[in-house]
Amino acid sequence: MLSYRHGFHAGNHADVLKHLVLTLILRSLKKKDKPFCYIDTHSGAGGYSLESDFSTKTGEYHSGIEKVLSNTRLREAVPEYFEVLDQLNSKEKSLKYYPGSPYIAASLMREQDSLDLLELHPAEYENLKYNMHFARNAHVHYRDAREGLNALLPPKIKRGLILIDPSYELKTDYHDTVKMVKNAWNKFPNGIYAVWYPVLGKAIDESWGFTRELAKIGAPGTLKVELCVKEADPLRGMHGSGLVILNAPWGLDKELNEILPEILESLKQNENGRFVLSWLTEEK
Ligand SMILES: C[S@@+](CC[C@H](N)C(=O)[O-])C[C@H]1O[C@@H](n2cnc3c(N)ncnc32)[C@H](O)[C@@H]1O
Repeated sequence: MLSYRHGFHAGNHADVLKHLVLTLILRSLKKKDKPFCYIDTHSGAGGYSLESDFSTKTGEYHSGIEKVLSNTRLREAVPEYFEVLDQLNSKEKSLKYYPGSPYIAASLMREQDSLDLLELHPAEYENLKYNMHFARNAHVHYRDAREGLNALLPPKIKRGLILIDPSYELKTDYHDTVKMVKNAWNKFPNGIYAVWYPVLGKAIDESWGFTRELAKIGAPGTLKVELCVKEADPLRGMHGSGLVILNAPWGLDKELNEILPEILESLKQNENGRFVLSWLTEEK
């Protein structure tokens, strides 16, 4: 039984980091005219109202997307991300909606590219279908991430990005995610894999061991990017998040190195905010 609803968290600091990284990887794939595929194994609803009961209950976007909107240096460095956001909110002239990863990807991808979007929560699947109506090259699946990814790989289009963004509701999700990535990489070693993870208070944090296990898969160019907005809460709460990127595209580290100080400047909640950018396996 799935209980996680991303609407509670849409537009928070973790979404901002994840979606900026997503945008940069898509940018690099678009450097060639050749088509590419995008697979989102845990798609969520695709788009979120920041006035919904979910969002107003937590108000997480106030310390996320709302903080970066006025960062002009970040806007100049990653204009595509802000264009998607501005377009989505153009009628409202204020921040009312936040796009999910499938929406951002579909907005930035081209006619020749294709998207496969997997989601297992029945209500989120219906929302996703509705929100992705505009994307004619998107296939929306009511399907388990692991089973679906295994079936979709290797893809017909031999270059692409797989975003793996589980909700980590169960402790076993970490181990299962590593297994899923390993299996996927064996079937499609040319793919770029971006795996999201939370950074939690010490008593329950799994991030260090998790990133090490992902590095052990042995894919070339495994890059880790992590942003913590404050110090760890000893017992609970997410104070940071990160992505491990296997087969990271050439130049991604340099682009991230330029924007991470800006993201941190906008999102840090006190002087204990920090970021990490490091190669876990040798750069390609
Ligand atoms: C963190 S949210 C996704 C957010 C989205 N990727 C974004 O960035 O906008 C995780 C989603 O995974 C879904 N989910 C959980 N377990 C799943 C599974 N086994 N297969 C597919 N989807 C699953 C949840 O219902 C939830 O909507």
